[in-house]
Amino acid sequence: MANTPGDAVGPAIRDRRARPLRDLRISVTDRCNFRCGYCMPREVFGPGHAFLPRSELLSYEELGRLVRVFADLGVSKVRLTGGEPLLRRDLDALVSLVASTPGITDVALTTNGSLLAVHAQRLRDAGLHRVTVSLDSLDPAVFAAMGDTKVPLSKVLDGIAAAAGAGLAPVKLNTVLRRGMNEAGLLDLVEFARDGGYVLRCIEYMDVGTTNGWGPSEVVSSAEVLGRIAAVHPAEPVAPGRPGEVARRWRYLDGRGEFGLISSVSMPFCSTCTRARLTAVGELYTCLFATHGRDLRALLRGGIDDAALHAAIAAIWGARDDRYSELRGAGTADLPKPEMSYLGG
Ligand code: GTP
Ligand code: 5AD
Ligand code: SF4
Ligand code: SF4
Repeated sequence: MANTPGDAVGPAIRDRRARPLRDLRISVTDRCNFRCGYCMPREVFGPGHAFLPRSELLSYEELGRLVRVFADLGVSKVRLTGGEPLLRRDLDALVSLVASTPGITDVALTTNGSLLAVHAQRLRDAGLHRVTVSLDSLDPAVFAAMGDTKVPLSKVLDGIAAAAGAGLAPVKLNTVLRRGMNEAGLLDLVEFARDGGYVLRCIEYMDVGTTNGWGPSEVVSSAEVLGRIAAVHPAEPVAPGRPGEVARRWRYLDGRGEFGLISSVSMPFCSTCTRARLTAVGELYTCLFATHGRDLRALLRGGIDDAALHAAIAAIWGARDDRYSELRGAGTADLPKPEMSYLGG
């Protein structure tokens, strides 16, 4: 079966569309100190919102065990997300558990960067390989409006610099562009990333969850982004670094780095999707838009042994048929969809 995503790395179980299980994205908390309108609008995630109680969260010991089993099933890459993962206490202890798991070769973190300056070195020492920081604007007022936060932009910029200084390079920067909100700052972000040696990735605003009031008119397409960037800094496409990569990569012709386009709306990438997601309470989701997850915590706490756990996860992945982004619009609008802050970004 030539050219099937993930073949190069070793044996893995495959779903009904022959996609191997390669990446595990773990949400370690549903809490966040930002309220980005596209993710956790304050009207919904206000003082009355019930976040998960601590006692419900998977412990690091439970997570460590799950990661071992997922690694046996073919996972080599783990990304820690949230909510804001650095709100979870002693995250470096989890990083160290994951990084020392045989078969796991890539451990990454997605963060809003606000606490990164404090933690970057310790995370690196614990074995973290890479970090991706969400950064929607370099204009303090637009940054504050997009994130609906009082955290100053300077904290995030310090966090990015600290991550690079700690050797978590190249730092990736995730920018969700919203029409009429932060799109005017695109080229400032491009220059900032080029100057700092960061990899900017522009993400199409997605209809994830049910609370953000998403509409197609707010999406800035990757084609438009590419046109705007290339008009100033000509670029050429780069082959994917690994099968199933989310971002399409572009390299500046002047040799000063690269950028990525994540085009889930205009150019879905379900056919090569090798990602499983685990919520903070241990539900396994096989798609960012799946209507429900499968309760692995109940299995863990019910005393299941590793072989049976392995078989249970293999059965879930084996039955997987998800391809939401490819079907988007075709009767998918009214399906219940989990929030990204719950499921993991
Ligand atoms: P690398 O490991 O550095 O390649 O990271 P990544 O490409 O997995 O990127 P990251 O985890 O930063 O994801 C960037 C964004 O892409 C996410 O925040 C989502 O908005 C989107 N995204 C990631 N995975 C998926 C996916 O499976 N489906 C969809 N529809 N969007 C995704
Ligand atoms: N559309 C696209 N990306 C989103 N994220 C959160 N909500 C959305 C959305 N509606 C992504 C951003 C952020 C990461 C944590 O989650 O990329 O960087
Ligand atoms: Fe928090 Fe990230 Fe969601 Fe913004 S996108 S609210 S920083 S989890
Ligand atoms: Fe994977 Fe679902 Fe995203 Fe498609 S929509 S790329 S199947 S997570």
